[in-house]
Amino acid sequence: EKAGYDHFMLKEIYEQPRALRDTLISRLEDDKVVLNEVDLTAEQLRSFRKVFIVACGTAWHAGLVGKTLIERWVRLPVEVDIASEFRYRSPLVDEHTLVVVISQSGETADTLAALREAKRNGARIVAITNVVGSSVAREAHDVIYTWAGPEIAVASTKAYTTQLEGVVLLGLYLAQTRGTLATEKIRKIITALRRLPAQAQEILDESEHIKDLAQSFVEVEDAFFIGRCLDWNVAMEGALKLKEISYIHAEAYAAGELKHGTLALITDKTPVIALATQMDVYEKTLSNIIEVRARDARVIGITFKSNKDLDKSVDRVIYLPETIGELAPILTVIPMQLLAYYVSVARGCDVDKPRNLAKSVTVE
Ligand code: M6R
Repeated sequence: EKAGYDHFMLKEIYEQPRALRDTLISRLEDDKVVLNEVDLTAEQLRSFRKVFIVACGTAWHAGLVGKTLIERWVRLPVEVDIASEFRYRSPLVDEHTLVVVISQSGETADTLAALREAKRNGARIVAITNVVGSSVAREAHDVIYTWAGPEIAVASTKAYTTQLEGVVLLGLYLAQTRGTLATEKIRKIITALRRLPAQAQEILDESEHIKDLAQSFVEVEDAFFIGRCLDWNVAMEGALKLKEISYIHAEAYAAGELKHGTLALITDKTPVIALATQMDVYEKTLSNIIEVRARDARVIGITFKSNKDLDKSVDRVIYLPETIGELAPILTVIPMQLLAYYVSVARGCDVDKPRNLAKSVTVE
């Protein structure tokens, strides 16, 4: 059942190339996205004035990436809500609202309650879920399945990367129908999408060094994950993974926000994982890296192979294969999943069943 791996989490991390491929297959044609499962006419797709993305935990992190992509590609306002907050703030939802519900299990009580509330208010519900026939799948109007396969470890890995593909596919589909992206741009994104499974494999094949890096985290008490734009969104997922399974306090921060307070917490004992894959803000991220290094923090950078210069500004760099900024989160998270995994093992934690947590949270 663990197929020779020590833990389900490691097995599931290594299944990502396959899961990424399966989620894309049949949904990509030469220069367009085909989402036969979304039963909306072009007219309906054009009638939305607003999008909400509602989810919990890791799925919420995927939603944050979805917001940036949909706003950028479709030019529609998108709000992302934590499901347990959504219902209690009287969100402005009506029949011109598209509500995207993201849930691996499809059984999370808060997410389900938010879905029902949005439906009562007349919204159209599209679910991105991993479990066929789950409550979320049954109650949504349309379902985009992630084909990650069963996820057993409490810490979500392959569900996250395939949820990211789900929001990318939905964003492209909306852009295509509403005519907000040039065909050339769509083709470029699709070409980059097709490369992802092999690139994820490449990261896994070159990941041996992350095991050594993890050893240096055994005594760590606090860690920071920083980045700008989409890098910040993935930083949140990186921090959650580390907290959840290794019990190290970790915080994700928008790199530019550090100097508004949090910089005071950075000392020579604080490792900082700095993500630098968003090239339009690369220089700005570099200056934030210099700020934390001035406080003697140990900085581990994550960037593309072409940004060789990063090793001059940080203590160590994890290099990723090249992709477009919008898809970078799908690759960036993989070394952070592995880091959290190996730190958890090195600290002797129960990797697959972290204390106080359940795989599926069915209470509100
Ligand atoms: O099944 P769901 O995607 O609705 O679950 C949501 C969260 O409970 C889940 O992502 C949780 O945050 C993970 N354990 C994180 O690794």
